Formats: sequence, C-alpha cells, structure tokens
Amino acid sequence: MTQFKRTLVTTALPYANGPVHIGHLAGVYIPADIYVRYLRLKKKDVLLIGGSDEHGVPITLKARDEGVTPGDIVDKYHNLIKESFEEFGISFDIYSRTTTETHHKTASDFFKKLYYKGEFIEKETEQYYDEKSDQFLADRYITGTCPHCNSENAYGDQCESCGTSLNATDLIDPKSAISGNIPIMKKTKHWYLPLDKHEPFLKQWILKDHKEWKSNVYGQCKSWLDLGLQPRAVSRDLNWGVPVPLKDGEGKVLYVWFDAPIGYISATKELTPDWEKYWKDKETRLLHFIGKDNIVFHCIVFPSMLKAEGSFNLPDNVPANEFLNLEGNKISTSKNWAVWLHEYLREFEGMQDVLRYVLTANAPETKDNDFTWKDFQAHNNNELVAIYGNFVNRSVVLTHKYYKGEVPKAGELKDFDRETLTKMKELTQKTETALDNFRFREAVREAINLARLGNKYLADTEPWKLIKTDKERVATIMNVSLQITANLTIITEPFMPFTADRLRKMLNIPSADWSECGNPELLKPGHIIGKAAFLFRKIEDDEIQKQYDKLIASEKANKIANADVKPSKDNISFEEFTKMDIRTGTILEAEKVPKTKKLLKIKVDTGIDERTVVSGIAQFFEPQEIKGRQVAIMVNLATRKIKGIESQGMILMAEDADGKLVFVSPLNNVKNGSEIK
Ligand code: 2FM
Ligand code: ZN
Repeated sequence: MTQFKRTLVTTALPYANGPVHIGHLAGVYIPADIYVRYLRLKKKDVLLIGGSDEHGVPITLKARDEGVTPGDIVDKYHNLIKESFEEFGISFDIYSRTTTETHHKTASDFFKKLYYKGEFIEKETEQYYDEKSDQFLADRYITGTCPHCNSENAYGDQCESCGTSLNATDLIDPKSAISGNIPIMKKTKHWYLPLDKHEPFLKQWILKDHKEWKSNVYGQCKSWLDLGLQPRAVSRDLNWGVPVPLKDGEGKVLYVWFDAPIGYISATKELTPDWEKYWKDKETRLLHFIGKDNIVFHCIVFPSMLKAEGSFNLPDNVPANEFLNLEGNKISTSKNWAVWLHEYLREFEGMQDVLRYVLTANAPETKDNDFTWKDFQAHNNNELVAIYGNFVNRSVVLTHKYYKGEVPKAGELKDFDRETLTKMKELTQKTETALDNFRFREAVREAINLARLGNKYLADTEPWKLIKTDKERVATIMNVSLQITANLTIITEPFMPFTADRLRKMLNIPSADWSECGNPELLKPGHIIGKAAFLFRKIEDDEIQKQYDKLIASEKANKIANADVKPSKDNISFEEFTKMDIRTGTILEAEKVPKTKKLLKIKVDTGIDERTVVSGIAQFFEPQEIKGRQVAIMVNLATRKIKGIESQGMILMAEDADGKLVFVSPLNNVKNGSEIK
C-alpha cells in the first residue's frame, strides 16, 4: 500500500434547500468525522472539507414557491445546516458554500481550462422554451400528464405519483410551471463532457486498479461502465448558478453537478494558501465520503473532469454508504418523514453522542438499514448506559471510595489481569483495522467491547467483596480498571467525542493520542482523578412513544398541507347546476357485493323512496358500521348497472389525506329528502 503523507477528506455538499436529517448524518458526515478524528488522533496531516451545495433547479423552484429569492433560501438553510453539523461535532476544517466568490471563480476557471484544452463537445439540441416568460425550461420546470399513470402533476424529470423517471418530452400536455403556458421547442447550445472518451481509462482505473473499493461502490461503477458511457451536458439554460464563462454562454450556467464537486477545491483554497499540496501532491490521498446516489458523480464524472484538467489527484477511495430508512419507510423531506437534527437536540439535549453512536452501530454500510426509535432506545439503555456508563461509573466511584481518587499502584498481576490487558490491546487493534478499512460499525462494536471487557472484569473480580480482606489485590484490580477506563477516552473519541472529552475531564487526562491505545500504564499511580458523573442517562418508553407519535403526526399534517387538489373543472351554467337533485338520505342496509373488493350494495331512504345504490367504499367501511348514517345522495343520476345490480343514484364522498373516502353528511340530522342546494 502506498504510504501517504496527508489525507484530504471531502463530504458530499448537501443541497441548501432544507435542513439535514439523520440519513445525511449516518450516510456521510458521521463516518467522515470518525475517520478524520481517528487520523488526527494518530497525528496525521488531514483536512475535512464540507460545504453547502447552493445551486440547481430545486432551489430556484423553492424560492419561487415561497416568493423569495434563491439567495434567501440558501442563506437560511446554509446557516441551519452548518449549525446542525457543529452541534453534532462534525469537525470540519472548513464548511463553505458554493455561492462564494472563490467558488465561482474556481469553477469558472476550471470550465475554461477544459474548454480551451478542447475537452468538451458542443451540441445544439431542441429543448422546451416558454415564450411568455422568455426562458428555456429545465425539466423540473415542466409539468404535464404522466404517460405511465396519468397523474396530471408529473414533472419533466420524474412523476412523483408513480416514481417513473421521465424526459420532459415524454409528458402529455406539457405546461410551463412558470407561466402555465404551453412551451415550444427551441434550439439551444450546450457543452458536453465526452464521458465515452474517458471510458477506457475509467475501466482500467476503477475495475482493475481499485478492486479494493467497497463492493456496493465497485458494483455500481461496473454496471455504469458495462452499459457504456454517453457525453453529459455540463451547462444549463438557467440564471441561478455559475455563469458559463464564454461569449455564447449568456443566459446559461454550469450544471450544478459540474460546479458542486469543484466546491471541494474552492473550499480548500479558502481554508489554506497551501491548498495545492492537498490536491496535487502525489503523496496526498483524496477520499470522498458520499451517499449511494452520488456514486456516479464521484467515481465517474468528477474523476473524468479532474483527469481532463490534468493537474489534480484522483480519489483514492470513495467509501459510499447505502441509505438509512426510518421506521420502515424511505426518509423523505417532502413527506416530512425524517428526524431533523435541529429538532432532535431540542428533545434530547446534550445527547449528540447517543445519536452518533446509534447511527454508527446501525450504519447502512453495505445495504440499506432501518432506524427505529425502539432500537435507538435499546442501544442507549443496553449498551451506553448499562455497559459503557456503568463500567466507568463503577471504576471512578470505587477509586474515590477506596483511595480518595488517587490511582493505586498495581501489585503483582494475576493471569486473569494479564489476559484482560491483552484483550484490551487486541480490541484496540481490531478497532484500528476496522477504521482503516472504513468498517465503522465493526469499529464501534470493538470500541464498546472494551467497556464490556471492563465491566466483566469488575464483575468477575468483585473488588467490593475483597476490600475488607485483600487490599493489595483490590489495588491491582482498580488499577487495571482505571487503565481500561483511560483507554476508553482514546478509543471512543472518534465515535463519541463529547463523551470522551467529558471522560478525560473526569479522569484528569489532558489529551488523547492513538499511539497510546492499549497502553496498560496510561494512568500513573498517584494520579488524582476527578469526581464521577453520569455519562449517559436511561431513555424511558414514553420519550420514545412521543418521538414516534410526533413522526406520524408531522407526516400527516404535511400530507394534508400538500394534498393534491385537482384544478376546478370547466364552468357550468346555473341551469345546469339546478338540474342536479341532491338530497339527504339515511342508509338502511348495506352488504358487500360478492366477488368484488370495493363495492357495497346500499339501501337508502331518500325521503322520496327507498332505493339501491352501488358504491365503491367497501375498502373503507364495514357494512354494519354505516347503517343509520345520514348521507348526501344524488337522486336524479341516470341508473347504471354495476355487477348486475341497478344503481339508482350516487352517495357523495370526499377523500381525506390518507386517500380514505369519508361521507359528506349534514352536521345536524335533517329530515330525509331535504334538498341540498
Ligand atoms: O446529492 C446531493 O445532495 C448533492 N448536493 C451532493 C453534491 S456532492 C458534491 F459534488 F458536491
Ligand atoms: Zn406517473
């Protein structure tokens, strides 16, 4: 393995159009932070680079929806995101953003360099253009009917109803989301990065030279490469972003995925005048921490850009994670199905490390994983409180009780003591190997195993029983326990830095150094430790229930707020309206229509007569529960035969936020046959 002098770690730049949630933390920022903290403990030269991705169409759409500028949106969320990361101890050397002057210049110069080297191809294509608002429409700016599911609100890039990826030209009846106008097709010129040209190089570099990459990353790259690469446009017709720095680039910006990764370079420039050393020196190792949806951009597109530019290092590894789900469902910002970082801390004050721990222990490293509040509680109560916290507490409290807080000198070690100290060394080595290989779940498990080892050691040696009879033995036991406790301040630091810091204060240790890991004489006899304090607290069932209820309630509120409301139908005349005869009626009987799932046969007293109506509500109501219910019924609808039954009218229903049908009934009971007008 090449020996590197320094490491540059980048983390995916989150879009500044919403706050960050546990999925972001688990997938990208915690693993990157663990790794960087570990290298810093080893006194390695390392930088952690982050920032907000502030360009792209969704930001402009959000701004338009809220009646503010894109600048307002990114300012708001950049600050919120930056604060969340700080609160969770993500130890960036710099957290920048892509609207800075340095970034605009860096991205612009990068584009120019590729342009003048002849690394782009120019192509003219036809794209949708809105004549009313005088602009080309990005796919997201076009809505229309989905050709697959007929939903009327599909976007030009995707139908959110059925999830199908679309091209804007697939939409039936396309409309501009800006003006409502029907767009025309118009010619436009763009610059393309010919990925096909880089394909042979990429195949060699990834598939042959980087077989050690995580299998999920390698596999995804392989399938892209097997399919064959196509040229990708690196510019867009838009006025939010880094302007295309060419004469004929007016009204065009760099595609957000072209400028965002260059943001890593810009941020390093902002951080240090020495930035080139971190990007160009062959003895620097570049690592990108990202989520799985970013793999193609970091393993194929950005490396092709860097390669084409010619002077930059390519990533040495891209340890991408899979996705974290929440309570069995995909985390979704738009559906408000998420645990937001800024909200978590309001309810679990000072408990950053608990979330850091659970998200690491449960990280979606090789496959998607699920976060549940119950599991969060179990990890906290059974591991952090019962093992780590309990061990530390016993070892510190007993030291005070027996030696007034002074580390006792160990007497002669017994086999069991030696075995325990050897195991300690092994555990620190296992943690180290796992960290070196980006296996953070395993690493944190081994780190907690050290506390487990300490706990078992105390339970097996029972110093509280020996203190009256064998003081010398107790001194040895407590010395060994304290060495394990002191080792915990080093080994847990990358995962739970706040706790490690508190523990160091408790033990009166100034700093941590990874080279001391496994040292059985970390605390010298005579060293005075501080008072015991609880590192963790138990989480009760009602706190967990509250979080779960909150999740369900906020998702529901969101559904109601965003419920798809269909636009009104064409106007009708008053005469046409008066033709409809809608009355109040009462359901007398109801039964399922055999061999159907949806239909109920319902007998209604309309005040005029008793009649039968077939209604598609069987999924929502049991026949007996609707008996006696007053409803609104259209009585002059032409009769229809449904499943052989003559249906004489229609019961009026409305759809609630969950898609369930509910009756439209008078608030107070009125006589049957009363006209609704
Ligand atoms: O997927 C995302 O959230 C993107 N904003 C990530 C960009 S990573 C990088 F290229 F900057
Ligand atoms: Zn659809």
